[in-house]
Amino acid sequence: MCGIVGYIGEKKAQPILINGLLALEYRGYDSAGIATIEDNKIQVKKDKGRVNNLYNLEGIQDLNGTIGIAHTRWATHGKPSMENAHPHMDNSNTFAVVHNGIIENYHELRDFLMQNGYTFLSETDTEVIPNLIHYHFEHNVLENNDKFLYAVKSAVNQLKGSYAIEVISSLYPDRIVVVRKDSPLVIGKSNGENYIASDIPAILPYTKDFYFLDDNEFAVIYQNKTEFYDASLVKHNKAIKNIDWDANAAGKDGFEDYMLKEIFEQPTAIRETVGSRFHLGEKCTFEDLNLSKEYLQNIHRIYIVACGTAMNAGLVGKPVFEKLCKIPVEVNIASEFRYQDPLIDENTLCIYISQSGETADTIAALKLAKAKNAKTIAISNVIGSSITREADYSIYTHAGPEIAVASTKAYTSQVVLVTMLAIYFAEQLDRCDTNTIEELKENILDLPTKVETLLQNVNEIKRFAKKVYTQKDMFFLGRGNDYSVALEGSLKLKEISYIHSEAYAAGELKHGPIALIENGVTVIGIITNPDLVEKSISNLQEVITRGARTLVITNQSLPNTHFDFVINIPETHPLLSPILSIIPLQLLAYYISKNKGLDVDKPRNLAKSVTVE
Ligand code: F6R
Repeated sequence: MCGIVGYIGEKKAQPILINGLLALEYRGYDSAGIATIEDNKIQVKKDKGRVNNLYNLEGIQDLNGTIGIAHTRWATHGKPSMENAHPHMDNSNTFAVVHNGIIENYHELRDFLMQNGYTFLSETDTEVIPNLIHYHFEHNVLENNDKFLYAVKSAVNQLKGSYAIEVISSLYPDRIVVVRKDSPLVIGKSNGENYIASDIPAILPYTKDFYFLDDNEFAVIYQNKTEFYDASLVKHNKAIKNIDWDANAAGKDGFEDYMLKEIFEQPTAIRETVGSRFHLGEKCTFEDLNLSKEYLQNIHRIYIVACGTAMNAGLVGKPVFEKLCKIPVEVNIASEFRYQDPLIDENTLCIYISQSGETADTIAALKLAKAKNAKTIAISNVIGSSITREADYSIYTHAGPEIAVASTKAYTSQVVLVTMLAIYFAEQLDRCDTNTIEELKENILDLPTKVETLLQNVNEIKRFAKKVYTQKDMFFLGRGNDYSVALEGSLKLKEISYIHSEAYAAGELKHGPIALIENGVTVIGIITNPDLVEKSISNLQEVITRGARTLVITNQSLPNTHFDFVINIPETHPLLSPILSIIPLQLLAYYISKNKGLDVDKPRNLAKSVTVE
């Protein structure tokens, strides 16, 4: 989705802005632009296409301003084009704006502005913003230093929808005004300069000290200071947060693609996520969770709510909670949950999983539970992200920045963290025998080494990818936890290879989908549950009989069968098997995409963080 960068300081802004946009490329976009101020004049350069395209535009090297804003646009209102790219200016060229989000009432605002003599150059919703600012600036009676901020505030008061906005003005070349609602924005503080971004990685090379802007909060950013204002423009102080992400972690580190690097980072990500939260023979600790035993005893239902891969991680968490804590769990898609009328009361616990912490549907689903007095826990990878600021409690995966659009290390870290949370609850509740818990803990601690082993043997998967990359359809089958992995494996494949794929609970196949199986169709089976080996083999046998080509991922010793390929993975506790069985499927999607010559890290139509509904 759209990305925002901003800079104010003593250095030339253009290279900093371009580098920031390059760091945000992973979010997915189709046009890019920057604006700087020089000699009290705003200069804008923008075009459709990649940031490299922008960098090569005539005159861009001559932008010498030390203040600037920049944007990558993911088209919503209006096709990707130079005219629709941000920044947008008002008719008098006094204000330039970049905007993430959607202005829902822009038709109405456009009409209002047109009636007042304004004209429009683009089809975007964003272009109303600089013109509204200009309108209020002209009609504002104030004649003081705050007139710019007041004009932005008056314009924002008229907006409906979601936004993170940066504004510069040729009349105020010493400041950038920003505001947000339901779309992230961070301000990075450094010595004698300040940075702005929609995502931390864009400005991570320059600072580790960040202010996270809240909804309806304004900031006026100068070279040496930042002032914060609430929705009524009352000034307040704001605490700074130190984010200890390594700037190099946001680079490719010698790997061909971010996705491959992130797949190989999984042993470290899991180790970091486990961290010091538990040791064998001791109870698990979650210092940030202040939930009494009495509260836990009264929970009668848990909802796990998330989108995409994060929801698939939630599916793996369900049986862990149910087995260890004896609490029924429902896993829900956030975009559905938010519009249903879920049965929520004060004895319902709602857990939200989001790598980015910025997914619009997940945030809305969280607000719904809060309004119904349920306690909420956020599981996120990004400290200070919107979801963690909304939730009653937040716990973090420590996967480091995930740049590739297709989520890999975030998924395995989420599964580990959800499992640890269930163990923590079970220990408080005393509803599960100690042996089971200790066995699970031992297995969790062994996971990083087992993932390392898996990653040392990628040749078989590469070979299989070469055989099947021209296929049009693929099927993923599994039972229980293996079905949850089938869903995630199928999602990975679709996202980055554009091959149509479906995941089915293996027993469900003969209730319809088996009609699609014909000679040469690829079927991938996951078999890790010792109690269901025979059943799963029978289901695969049914597709082999109908001519399917099969790959099986297993940690069981299978009888002599007719599978075309078998990938053996290390054994672990059955509740943890998804963390190992997903690795070959991530690699399969990756190598198929590479064989097809596709852009693995930035698949078409997708965005890393989905901040609109
Ligand atoms: C798939 C993928 C998406 C995200 C989903 C939720 O590889 O990355 O399905 O999992 O958009 O994103 P977060 O976790 O940031 O809420």
